[in-house]
Amino acid sequence: MTKLYSELAQVYHEMYRSIFDYEREFHFYDGLLRKYARRSILEIGCGSGNLAPYFLKAGYEYTGLDLYDEMLQIARQNHPEAEAAFVRGDMRELHLPRAFDAVIITGRSFCYMTTNKDVMSALQSIYRTLREKGILIFDSFKADELLPNLKKESGQEVESGDTKYRRVNRTSLNLETGWTWNWEAEYHIEKKGQEKKVITDRSVLRAFTEDELKLFLQLNGYNILEIIKENTLTFVAQAM
Ligand SMILES: C[S@@+](CC[C@H](N)C(=O)[O-])C[C@H]1O[C@@H](n2cnc3c(N)ncnc32)[C@H](O)[C@@H]1O
Repeated sequence: MTKLYSELAQVYHEMYRSIFDYEREFHFYDGLLRKYARRSILEIGCGSGNLAPYFLKAGYEYTGLDLYDEMLQIARQNHPEAEAAFVRGDMRELHLPRAFDAVIITGRSFCYMTTNKDVMSALQSIYRTLREKGILIFDSFKADELLPNLKKESGQEVESGDTKYRRVNRTSLNLETGWTWNWEAEYHIEKKGQEKKVITDRSVLRAFTEDELKLFLQLNGYNILEIIKENTLTFVAQAM
């Protein structure tokens, strides 16, 4: 089980604010949600809430959901506004008191669905959370581009306030439950005046081919509205 969203939640929050362009990501989803005229949204894998303020400012009825309390704690601290709702849940078994016009799974969070059973459970559970003809938008790493080019080692460095974060990533093929790979990451955390900390994290992620995702969606009663192929694969699908 990864530590990135529990023990390392604050590190994630600091690092990804530099690594990710959340404003760009918001505009991407906003464009799609406007196109299909959806206003009430559930963001699955909302993490530490980096996209939430954009959705709230744009007037969406927004709920963020994540598996890890540590991520949600940061989200709630940063967005105490009454209209920012953050709830804990697992996309494979959602039990929410209401339904949404749209569910978005952001930041490749769907790639934690490493087994076929996970994928089927998530798609079924999300289906039940959507209003009639509601839409699901989610993205995935592209198996055919990512797996042949897995870098054995790579790194990132981020400075935030008085802390320096350096991450060394090591990846290798796993292939146990689909197009899965192992990701080992070493986090070097240097805070002024404190001893340097090194924390190692291990996780397994899964990429998908376009055909696999088409079939999973079809098997679970979704109609595919569009597939956007950029660095990642984004599916827009409607519950039928
Ligand atoms: C790469 S992060 C993306 C977070 C956020 N969207 C962002 O871009 O910063 C993946 C997120 O998915 C969440 N996650 C993983 N498995 C999940 C599950 N089964 N149900 C709900 N959230 C999950 C993690 O806790 C984490 O916050």
